[in-house]
Amino acid sequence: MGLLENKTALVTGAGSGIGREIALHFAAEGAKVLVSDINDLDGQKTVSMVRERKGVAEYFHANSGSPQECEALVNEAMNKFGGLHIAVNNAGVGGPSVPVGEYPIDGWDRVIQINLSGVFYGMRYQIPALLKSGGGSIVNIASILGQVAFPNSCAYVAAKHGVIGLTQNAAVEYATQNIRINAIEPGFIKTPLLEKNMTPEAFAMLEKKHPMGRLGESSEVAELCTWLSSSKASFVTGSFYPIDGGYLAQ
Ligand SMILES: NC(=O)c1ccc[n+]([C@@H]2O[C@H](COP(=O)([O-])OP(=O)(O)OC[C@H]3O[C@@H](n4cnc5c(N)ncnc54)[C@H](O)[C@@H]3O)[C@@H](O)[C@H]2O)c1
Repeated sequence: MGLLENKTALVTGAGSGIGREIALHFAAEGAKVLVSDINDLDGQKTVSMVRERKGVAEYFHANSGSPQECEALVNEAMNKFGGLHIAVNNAGVGGPSVPVGEYPIDGWDRVIQINLSGVFYGMRYQIPALLKSGGGSIVNIASILGQVAFPNSCAYVAAKHGVIGLTQNAAVEYATQNIRINAIEPGFIKTPLLEKNMTPEAFAMLEKKHPMGRLGESSEVAELCTWLSSSKASFVTGSFYPIDGGYLAQ
């Protein structure tokens, strides 16, 4: 019997990287998974990967930066699967790489819209659905940059710090209503988000910043997310977990 048997889950940004691995792990543990993304081909590829492994998944296009689309995504989960027990707000973008005094206003707005407001929009509609379904778990994918600075990344760092506060606030509000809400803070993880923006030299420099001397794998993050989303984590709420090869311990 899988850890998430008889559960239904939605994962945003599940067409790539960390979100895809979370969807695969959830399905392998028995959950029915609604895979969501703005990149339909990639999202549908995740669904095919789940089905090849005999799991259950469906795809739904939703932009996490749009409240209407976040609501539609939750409605789809309720209609298709008859309930919602687990949500992972994972969709995110990197943004421009320049200091605060030069940071483009439209770049700031976009990163905050997707990486911070998107998590609020997600929870705004997920929580009523979880309540209707008898409770469950939300995991928000933040970052180690939800705790510390990273030069030339002000919007990303501000958004991820905001996600931690938002997670704690929501967790406290719903702690007695059988909804657990936590955040994960990955260190640098080998995903397209990183790979498409990095030279090999920058990559090597990043590896050195992690005491383990390497970057993380999406599957390592998915393991933690699966545990947090399962009844094994029944007393865990309002917490945020670095998974970073020791980065924040320095
Ligand atoms: N890779 C890392 O080093 C790292 C580290 C810490 C935190 N994170 C966080 O993990 C999450 C996933 O990142 P990843 O590295 O897997 O990135 P990725 O680029 O591989 O995947 C992100 C996915 O989100 C989708 N997406 C982008 N904007 C969207 C939107 N508005 N609505 C819905 N989907 C959207 C993309 O199409 C893509 O499929 C992000 O929140 C990111 O900030 C990543």
